[in-house]
Amino acid sequence: MSFNIAIDGPAGAGKSTAAKLAAKELGFIYVDTGAMYRTIALYLLRSGTDIEEEAALQAALEDIDVRISYEQGVQHMILNGEDVSGLIRTPEVSDMASRSSARPAVRKKLLDLQRQLAAREDVLMDGRDIGTAILPKADLKIFLTASVAERARRRFLEMKEKGEECSEEEIRREIEERDYRDMHREISPLVQAEDAVLLDTSDMTLEQVVERITALAKEKMHA
Ligand code: CDP
Repeated sequence: MSFNIAIDGPAGAGKSTAAKLAAKELGFIYVDTGAMYRTIALYLLRSGTDIEEEAALQAALEDIDVRISYEQGVQHMILNGEDVSGLIRTPEVSDMASRSSARPAVRKKLLDLQRQLAAREDVLMDGRDIGTAILPKADLKIFLTASVAERARRRFLEMKEKGEECSEEEIRREIEERDYRDMHREISPLVQAEDAVLLDTSDMTLEQVVERITALAKEKMHA
């Protein structure tokens, strides 16, 4: 039986950075489900699909083959045979991922891929609905969050480091918009699972967050 850790939380809470490091320390595979939604979003943008049109969306989804591959422990997203990992972190893709992930057909497309991975491997999977919908029986569930101001500040620093022009205020607005959409959609909204441990990282360093996640995991594994 594989050991599954579900980490959910809003945009910019630091899930992926912390989850990646914690997975490495635990010897687990890190699965970034946001990257899967982003990969589908990239296809939808490229093809100019009107995602509100059910038939058009269905047709587009049928043409999409999403795969995940690991090179030296790093997750790569493969879209119809093309490695698109470097193309899915733009604001346009973020926006399309947030909008298209509210469509049931898009979520359905990724459900099996996510569950199959978790059934096969010890995974630390991060997203919005992992503990509530994808892996309701996960061995450990964590809801990772931080204040909007802190999340905007972190995202801003991250973008600046990459040399990208942006305003902190604009990022804050974007985060608030995405939070609202993720939390209010009908299907698999972002909510804390009843049995999830709440981790507010507003006043925590990255090291502290990683330490807490690995400590919680070790506690459960040895229980
Ligand atoms: O990294 P960041 O927090 O900005 O976002 P992400 O985790 O890469 O996810 C991008 C978008 O995909 C989110 O805004 C969600 O709307 C959606 N998503 C989702 O609906 N369910 C998941 N399990 C993961 C992401």
